[in-house]
Amino acid sequence: MTIGKLIDGKAFAATLRDKVGEGVAGFVEATGRKPGLAVVLVGEDPASSVYVRSKGKMTVAAGMESFEFKRPDSIGEEDLLDLIEELNHDDRVDGILVQLPLPGHIDEAAVIGAIDPAKDVDGFHVVNSGKLATGQEALVPCTPLGCIMLLKDELGDLSGLEAVVVGRSNIVGKPMAALLLAESCTVTIAHSRTRDLASVVHRADIVVAAVGRAEMVKGEWIKPGATVIDVGINRVTDTEDGKARIVGDVATAEALAHVRAITPVPGGVGPMTIAVLLRNTLVAAHARAG
Ligand code: GUN
Repeated sequence: MTIGKLIDGKAFAATLRDKVGEGVAGFVEATGRKPGLAVVLVGEDPASSVYVRSKGKMTVAAGMESFEFKRPDSIGEEDLLDLIEELNHDDRVDGILVQLPLPGHIDEAAVIGAIDPAKDVDGFHVVNSGKLATGQEALVPCTPLGCIMLLKDELGDLSGLEAVVVGRSNIVGKPMAALLLAESCTVTIAHSRTRDLASVVHRADIVVAAVGRAEMVKGEWIKPGATVIDVGINRVTDTEDGKARIVGDVATAEALAHVRAITPVPGGVGPMTIAVLLRNTLVAAHARAG
């Protein structure tokens, strides 16, 4: 039995961050200023706090300016919108990222909609999602763009391939489908209401799993030789030793017997998100600098 390959997203992301770092050095030389990324964190969610700290460190390591704005859970929507407005007009800031999810009393769509689309390095603003959907140049959501980079690195030209995206979120599933379509794949979006998910997944040359359910996609569902991108990050507790582990949305060990290649969790897609965020910030800085 052949065993598939594990895609080293960690190494790919490190190389991408190095390339962005070189680009940043060129930008500084040309403009006399550093690109700047502002991250807004509302509340104290531990996972979000860890993630924001990591973003800050990597932004600085790439030679950019990092601005962090921490606000309490109790912040009102108007105050948050005022902060965004301030950042929209701050010339040192090329990228604005509001860490999601936001507390329930704040309208996420209103906050994202308040970000200047030219500074929307998450690519969540409807102007950017609309441009992506209609094939115009846009700032593109980081995780799906990272997935496309890994797929093209592994497979080269994606045109004509059957792609199945499992999950329909605005952050991953929908933009992922748009990007695969732009690469001329035949794209299916599957989700929690999809009937016979196993046979839908079995059609795919490319499977992107982004449902947020631990090991939901089974190995035997995968077509022999398919490439699998696992976006899931799920914390599970082992019944045997009581220890917590992080697993993806795909049963990786089973899938390895079927796939051509698969991203592991951790060390696959995860590291790509921040690397692409840095890349998007540099792209936004260049566009703003004209
Ligand atoms: N929360 C989980 N993923 C993301 C992301 O890519 N961007 C933002 N802003 N929040 C997130």
